[in-house]
Amino acid sequence: MQLVFSIVNKMNNLDEKEMNLISTASNPRQNSCYEKDEKRSLIWPPPPARPKFNPRLNLGVMASGNGSNFEALVKAIQNSELDAYISILVVNNPNCEARRRAKRLGVPCVVHDHREFSSREELDEALVKTFTNHAVEGVVMAGWMRIVTPILIAAFPNRLLNIHPSLLPSFRGLDAVGQALKARVPISGCSVHLVTPQVDDGPVLAQAAVPVLSSDDHQSLSKRIQRMEHQLLPLSVAIAGQNWRNAGQN
Ligand code: GRF
Repeated sequence: MQLVFSIVNKMNNLDEKEMNLISTASNPRQNSCYEKDEKRSLIWPPPPARPKFNPRLNLGVMASGNGSNFEALVKAIQNSELDAYISILVVNNPNCEARRRAKRLGVPCVVHDHREFSSREELDEALVKTFTNHAVEGVVMAGWMRIVTPILIAAFPNRLLNIHPSLLPSFRGLDAVGQALKARVPISGCSVHLVTPQVDDGPVLAQAAVPVLSSDDHQSLSKRIQRMEHQLLPLSVAIAGQNWRNAGQN
C-alpha cells in the first residue's frame, strides 16, 4: 500500500516532461483498450539519456524459457538504446525458446543443464566460470527460473540483476501475476533489482507500474507487464552500468 502511495505521490509531483511518461486516463478501469496501456503506465526512474559507456558494457545473460526479455536487451542494443554487448547467453533448458532466439540473433549461447549438476552450488560454479571466461562486467537474470546461491552472487557483487513481474516487495516468488490477481490489487508491474541471497529481494533499481483492469485474466495482465519489462530491463541495465562505472572511479 505504501508503494502505491509513493507512486501516486510521485505522479503528483511530476513536471510536464515527466508527465509524458504516465497516463492521462483518469480512471483506467473505464477504458480497457490495450493500445493505451503504455500511456497508463509509469516507469520510475525516468530513463537516463542513453548513457555512453567506454568501453561498452560487456554483459552475460541467463534465461530459462521464452527469452523475450533477452531479446528486448538485444533489440535495445541494436537500436543504440543500450551501449552494451552480450558476450554470452546461458540457458539451463536445452530446448528453450531463448536458445533459439540467441541463434537467430547471433548471440553466443551455452547450455548449463541444471539436471547435469549434483547441486545448485555446482551449477553456479559453472556459471561463474563461463561468465569469468567471457570477462563480463555484469550478469542479467532475464527469466532464470532457478534459485541462485551465494557462489554466483559473491562473484558479481552489485553486478547481478534480476527482473520480476511484480512491484517488489509485493508478490515475491512463483506466479507473481497470479498472486496480484488473487490479491485484487489495482496496480501491479515489474521490478529490476540487485540479487541478494533472499529470493526476489535486494535493492530495486527501477520499477514499472501498470493498471490491473477488472477485465484482466492471467494472460492479459502478464502481457501488459511483459511489455513494460521489455522497456524496463534495458533501462535498468543502463542505470546499473552507470553505477558500476562510477564505483570503478572511486
Ligand atoms: C518474466 O516475466 C520475468 O519477470 C520473470 O520471468 C519471465 C521471463 O519471461 N522472471 P521471458 O522468458 O523473458 O519471456
